[in-house]
Amino acid sequence: MKAVVLAAGKGTRMLPITLKKPKPLVKVAGKPFLEHLIADLQGSGYSDIGIVVGYKKEMVESFVQSKGWEFELIEQKEQTGTGNAVKMCKDFAGKEEFVVVMGDNLYSPRDLARLAKMKGNCVSVAKGDPSRYGAVVKDNGFLKEIVEKPQEYVSSLINVGLYRFTPEIFDALSKTKLSPRGELEITDAINLMAKSSKVRVLELKDYWLDLAKPEDIYTISEFVLKNAE
Ligand code: G1P
Repeated sequence: MKAVVLAAGKGTRMLPITLKKPKPLVKVAGKPFLEHLIADLQGSGYSDIGIVVGYKKEMVESFVQSKGWEFELIEQKEQTGTGNAVKMCKDFAGKEEFVVVMGDNLYSPRDLARLAKMKGNCVSVAKGDPSRYGAVVKDNGFLKEIVEKPQEYVSSLINVGLYRFTPEIFDALSKTKLSPRGELEITDAINLMAKSSKVRVLELKDYWLDLAKPEDIYTISEFVLKNAE
């Protein structure tokens, strides 16, 4: 199964640490974050991995080389949103379905393996307070809509940013307009797909860890070390 890791972003919420290195290379439990993520992917059935690079791409490239990983590195020249990053993966995906993982998020190998076994387009969710995230609204078990940062209750399911796509996503992206924050939002393209075809919703059974701010380094390190015991 193919997986794409989005690792091109500037990591502004992680400043000043990300002045010197891209966020996926920030050390967590003694290793660059990306190494934990790759180990989880490889341990759950993903053998064909692509990494979207942009900000400080040379550093990511030399790290990938140093590990002897034969992954495809896909360049995103402009950091104009997750949708734009996924758009860059058209050749890598070809006619196959593929999974998209954020380069600064960790999920359990068990949940990653469940996603690898699904079919068609799929959005992964977890229970929580969606006011800072995308709230996932379901209809008959399938995705109805992702509502970004809702001020009023629409659902208690959060979009965790872990997706499975068919090549249909590239058509949807080409029809998607830039958002008010000037980005090509993957969630807008997913909402477009949900109107014309069935998008599945996978509820995670285990955990979702987001390396967003400097204080997350400590909490994720602690989690990873405890989990490895
Ligand atoms: C993005 C998605 C949102 C999702 C979140 C997960 O939001 O648009 O639906 O819940 O990632 O981290 P952003 O962080 O770009 O505002």
